[in-house]
Amino acid sequence: MKICMAGACGRMGRRILELAVAEPDIEIGGAFDVPTLAGSELIVGTECNCPRHILVGANAAAEIAQSDVLIDFTVAQACMGNALLAAKAGKPCVIGTTGLSVEYKAELIAMAREVAIVYAPNMSVGVNLLFKIANEVALVLGLDYNVEITEIHHNLKKDSPSGTAVRLAEGIADVWGLDYRQDVAHGREGMVGERPVRQIGMHALRGGDVVGEHTVSFIGRGERVELTHKAHNRDNFARGALRAARFVIDAGPGLYDMQDVLGLK
Ligand SMILES: NC(=O)c1ccc[n+]([C@@H]2O[C@H](COP(=O)([O-])OP(=O)(O)OC[C@H]3O[C@@H](n4cnc5c(N)ncnc54)[C@H](O)[C@@H]3O)[C@@H](O)[C@H]2O)c1
Repeated sequence: MKICMAGACGRMGRRILELAVAEPDIEIGGAFDVPTLAGSELIVGTECNCPRHILVGANAAAEIAQSDVLIDFTVAQACMGNALLAAKAGKPCVIGTTGLSVEYKAELIAMAREVAIVYAPNMSVGVNLLFKIANEVALVLGLDYNVEITEIHHNLKKDSPSGTAVRLAEGIADVWGLDYRQDVAHGREGMVGERPVRQIGMHALRGGDVVGEHTVSFIGRGERVELTHKAHNRDNFARGALRAARFVIDAGPGLYDMQDVLGLK
């Protein structure tokens, strides 16, 4: 399987390339980033003692054409352009980029009529289990418990709240018949009044080099249940992305998520 890495020079891109080189069934078919980084050379594979020099390409379409699957960890707007290039070339795609608007997600659904796309704001196995468990806890506890979601990320993260926090809130909103746009309160300030029952609180903390932590608190009378996931480094996301790539090259057209990849549905 030849992968094409979009965002090759980024934190996730470099990590995915590093781990991909160690996998016997994976080759690097292409790599690209923003035009100003075209022509840069990345040295990956040092950890597995098989160093490889990867040239960051200048032409996204050409890099995609010489690969079997696109893996995109860039920024929302760029990711949509890259996914469209892959769809036009009939190549499946794994999207880890977060911060996609509702309109962008609708565009992905349209593209997925033609090609297979895995779109997952968090590719870790543990977090995907958390998605499932949080929904189950919400179902049992019900609206008697107030749910508040807190997430912590490094100070370089651009979007807020994290895609993982959004996904957690969307799942619980579905279970409780709430509307994400209307019923999610992003932080609180001033005389906001009593907390409505039909609300999901969302709080984003930013600082230092925290890779990613998410806690869902179900706060009731006299007790609270807290579900927490902490990522120690980016390898769990990178391994998940490679697992998703193996899944998507054999899948038919459609929009999939990590629950599909991991068989959690
Ligand atoms: N799904 C997951 O499991 C997961 C895990 C970690 C991060 N992320 C998300 O992945 C994205 C990237 O994260 P990061 O920490 O690697 O960020 P980063 O800023 O380190 O890297 C992003 C890279 O994308 C490049 N880029 C921007 N526009 C581009 C374009 N048009 N074409 C090609 N490359 C372009 C940037 O130059 C940069 O090198 C973010 O949206 C982040 O939230 C997802």
